[in-house]
Formats: sequence, C-alpha cells, structure tokens
Amino acid sequence: MKVFLTGGAGYIGSHTLTELLGDGHEVCVYDNFANSQPVALARVRTLSNRDFDIVEGDIRQGDRLADALKAFQPDAVIHFAGLKAVGDSAAFPLEYYENNVQGSISLLRAMDSAGCRRIVFSSSATVYGEPRYLPFDEVHPLSPINPYGRTKLFIEEIIRDWTAAQPRTSAVLLRYFNPVGAHASGRIGEDPLGPPANLLPFVSQVAVGRREHVSVYGDDYPTRDGTGERDFIHVVDLARAHMAALTYCAARPGCEAINVGVGRGATVLEVIRAFEAVSGRSIPYRIVGRRAGDTASSVADPSKALALLGWRAERDLRDICQSAWAWQSGNPGGYRGADTPGERD
Ligand code: UD1
Repeated sequence: MKVFLTGGAGYIGSHTLTELLGDGHEVCVYDNFANSQPVALARVRTLSNRDFDIVEGDIRQGDRLADALKAFQPDAVIHFAGLKAVGDSAAFPLEYYENNVQGSISLLRAMDSAGCRRIVFSSSATVYGEPRYLPFDEVHPLSPINPYGRTKLFIEEIIRDWTAAQPRTSAVLLRYFNPVGAHASGRIGEDPLGPPANLLPFVSQVAVGRREHVSVYGDDYPTRDGTGERDFIHVVDLARAHMAALTYCAARPGCEAINVGVGRGATVLEVIRAFEAVSGRSIPYRIVGRRAGDTASSVADPSKALALLGWRAERDLRDICQSAWAWQSGNPGGYRGADTPGERD
C-alpha cells in the first residue's frame, strides 16, 4: 500500500513509519519539523534499510499538501500532525484550532483534490474527559476538558461528516490512551522539548541523571496506592494498530472510532518501580499536590479494536520501561545530542 504520513517524523509517526516500512509499504512523510527532528527519519532509514519520500511542509499549506498528495498518489493517509501540549492549548487556543482543526480541513480538501479516500486519524482518549464510568468504551459521552482535547473531538466530527458526505470514503479514528516506550533498538523514541510534561519521559530523564526527582502529582486518589492510574500503551503496539486500521479502511467505507489501549492500568508508583527494576537506577520522587485537570484513573476497554481490527496490545509495562530506558540511556540528550556522521541528513 502507498501511505502518506502527516507528522511522520514525530514520536508516534516515526514508530509507525518504521512498522510500515518493515511491512513493505511505500511511504511519503509530510512534516514541518515543528516538534520533531530530521535525524529521526535518518535513523528510521537505517533501522529499516528502506527509503521513503520526505516533503517538508505544514498541513495548513493546502496547495503544498495537494501537490504532495497528487505526486505520491497514496492509497491512504495517516494523520498525526498536530500540536499536543495540553497546557499550551489553554494558553494559546487559537494556535491549536488553527494548526489542528484548520490543518485537518486543509488535509481533507487536499485528499479530495488528489482522489484519496482513506484516512486513519490520530485521536486521543482525552476526547472522553472526566470518566462517567470505567473502562472507557467508544460510546462513553465525549466531553474534553481543554482546548487540545476539543481540537481532537472537532476533527473527529469533521472527518465523520466528510465520510458521511462521500459514500466511498473510509476513516478510522484511533483514540490513543497513554503512548509510551520506544523502538526496541533504542534508536528512536520520545524527545520532548524542555522539561517533559508527561510521566514516562520525566521518569526516564531522572533515571539517566538529567533531572533530580519525579514530582508525583497526588497520592490521595481512589486507586490501589493513591497515585494516578493510566492505561500505558507501548508505542510499537500503537504503531501496529495503525497497520490494522489501514487494512480495515481498505475493506470498508464509513467511519469508526476505536480505542487503542491495553485495558489495564498502572499507577504512577508502579511505573516508577518498574523503571527502577529494568534500569537498575534509583528514581527519587516526591509526593506533591494534584495537577489541575488530572483524573484519578483512565483505562480503555479495547474490545472494539480486537473485534474490528483483530488488534490487541502485546507488550507489557516491563517492555515499555526496557525500551524507554534503551532509548534514554543511549541518547541522554535526545536527538539533539546525536552526532553520528551521516545522521544529521
Ligand atoms: C496527558 C494529557 C492528555 C494527553 C496525554 C498524551 C494532561 C492533563 N493530559 O495525559 O491530554 O493525551 O498526556 O500522552 O496533561 N504524573 C506525575 N508526575 C509527572 C507527570 C505526570 O505524577 O511529572 C502523573 C499524572 O498526574 C498522571 C500520570 O502521571 O496521573 C500520567 O500523566 P501524563 O503522562 O502527563 O499523562 P496524562 O495526564 O494521562
């Protein structure tokens, strides 16, 4: 299959790219490198021993997108590109609506002009908001609590209307839970700019000595040990869910929202202990107050993914921590520390 990846150089995009190439697909990456590095693509090329197209561009540049799609003639698009920092989205909502929502409209228009009818969209479990019940299934009410989450919900609705208006189009909206971990090689991984806002990258940076301690945001939640509980999904399992979604789209028109999670949660303290066990490093932590906007527990019901896509997560918390540690210990400064000749491309 020929697959066009917006945001293909980013954390989830680069892992999905690696799986696509490994499965023999032809790929074109479209990325503006706003929150990613070309070196990630160079590493994917080495890892997979395969080549692919790269177009540097912004999804808001409709003409550029349309030209790239017409030139590549993909069977399907996987749409990762977007801004994703929850805090920033509250401070700069228009940036988020412009990049994520306007950018997605411009992508769908470009797909129309190039005759491409299939899309897999990178959505988020954040569209559910505060749980009314757990685990979250796909019919749980949608009520995101920040602008980032609302951009994901609005894009879902826009894609749903796009498929409803054109009978031969097909879309899968993948609602990711908490993507973490890295490729087993340790060559690609998550590389946040500045202090990480998310738990796993922060824990990894403490383990490698880049930061002193983890602040644990609250230990008085109604969970096993009082700390927050999340459904951490290995990024390679998540990447594999995209392959399954592509196959599903190719066979069926329409639009389906599908959770991508393990169906089991781990608490903050369980993550810290699992990371200590695989890294052999001690990870100091301090209990601090709750973080605004956090919920006690978020866990997926992944049964729809199994029923429709034949997909289920295969990797556990140990695999997650092992791969994250391989990435962090091999690249303590992330991609910016990369100095292997030929990798800067
Ligand atoms: C966050 C976003 C969510 C986004 C997801 C992407 C918020 C409120 N939500 O989810 O919209 O889709 O990332 O993966 O930002 N924790 C600590 N110390 C830390 C960091 C986190 O104790 O330094 C705790 C949190 O309180 C939470 C858990 O670890 O209980 C997971 O946090 P995080 O990794 O930020 O993910 P989410 O908040 O679930």
